[in-house]
Amino acid sequence: MTTVSFDHHSPEYAHGWREINADLRGRCPVARTDAHGGFWVISKYDDVAAVARDDATFSSYQELPDGSRTGATIPVAPLRQVPIEMDPPEFFAYRKLLNPSFSPASVKAWEPFVRDVTTFCLDRVIAAGTTDLIRDIASPVPAILTLRVLGLPTEDWQVFSDTTHDLVHTVPGTPENDTALAGMFALIGQITQTIVERRAAPADDLISHLVRSEIDGRPLTDERLMEVITLVILGGVDTTGSLIGNALHWLQHHPEQRERLRVDPSLLPAATEEFLRFFSPVPGLARTATTDCVIGGQTIAAGDRLFLSWSSANHDEDAFDAPGEVRLDRTPNRHQSFGLGIHRCLGSNVARLEFRVVLEEVLRRLPDYVIDVEAATPYSSIGVVNGWVSLPATFTPAAPQGSDFSSERTSDHR
Ligand code: HEM
Repeated sequence: MTTVSFDHHSPEYAHGWREINADLRGRCPVARTDAHGGFWVISKYDDVAAVARDDATFSSYQELPDGSRTGATIPVAPLRQVPIEMDPPEFFAYRKLLNPSFSPASVKAWEPFVRDVTTFCLDRVIAAGTTDLIRDIASPVPAILTLRVLGLPTEDWQVFSDTTHDLVHTVPGTPENDTALAGMFALIGQITQTIVERRAAPADDLISHLVRSEIDGRPLTDERLMEVITLVILGGVDTTGSLIGNALHWLQHHPEQRERLRVDPSLLPAATEEFLRFFSPVPGLARTATTDCVIGGQTIAAGDRLFLSWSSANHDEDAFDAPGEVRLDRTPNRHQSFGLGIHRCLGSNVARLEFRVVLEEVLRRLPDYVIDVEAATPYSSIGVVNGWVSLPATFTPAAPQGSDFSSERTSDHR
């Protein structure tokens, strides 16, 4: 057994994750680390796939005799999230409940709204010629769509967007983190109130669908509803924002590729997959072995924790030709950024839609954006999501275009 010094939450990993992953793949593709109580790091494409696909041997949720539990992250998150932290057979009932709202046809119907919201976000900054691409665009667009899908009020979108973004990148114990937590508690209050309202008068939104649903003949408890809703929020907002931020930052340094995408937006679907592979917005997630087993020649004991490194798998030389190169038209591109197996990302089509529309609109309306690379701030820890705190940019000012979302919001306040 090879024990390595590996911590996906460390500043070293945030700065050097590509090199650290490559070292592990070459030296010890199934390695043991003592960080966070000890776990295995799985780095090769085929090993990660084998573990993710074997949900009987590798569990996403276990209650332990000491009253603690395991889940999909290392260390375990304070709030359980469902269905990502649930095993079959119970898992299937929840996934079935959610699938229709995120099917390709449902997601396609959201495109006009996503474009409208993107127009609204760009209109707010376009006359000034200056923006923070994260706080003004990459974070708000997924945040506002998530509010709308769930059926939560959209007028406080800014607080919601800042809260979901700040929760991921601020350090526990700092005033910024306290503010983000306070925002999250306010949000939980808002969700609780919406659950009560939708029970009394259902509307056409995901919270109404969930409060009307039954599993094994019983409605979902308030606690369970909250576990599902927080997953839709935390799984969908900052992940997509990070993908957008990473792509906009990369395009700043590759003007010829930026011009290529601007002139021919039909290249964006393939480019989306390549940005997903190259940046792996969710670098890795966890499982727990339910029985003694062998992975990559290493014996894993029942109860051991495993970190599935999607980001390492996505750069495995045995799975991708020249994985260190961004090839916007790479094909095939079987990246693992959305995971695989039964827990494969529920919102993958939503993320792809938001990414494509935001990129199309930014490249069309801010074609000459220049990021202040000195002031651009990456996350100091990428243990959960790999993104940017802030990407300040300037561009040639232009006139706002007008959006239905902004007129709708004006009437909200009348
Ligand atoms: C670029 C954006 C995104 C990335 C990289 C991403 C990544 C992932 C990954 C890796 C998993 C697999 C979890 C596992 O195997 O344990 C997952 C699951 C999930 N994602 Fe995403 N996600 C993104 C966007 C979204 C969006 C937009 C939503 C919702 C609208 C969403 C909701 C979920 C949910 C609910 C699950 C759990 C599915 C299950 O357990 O069956 N994600 N995501």
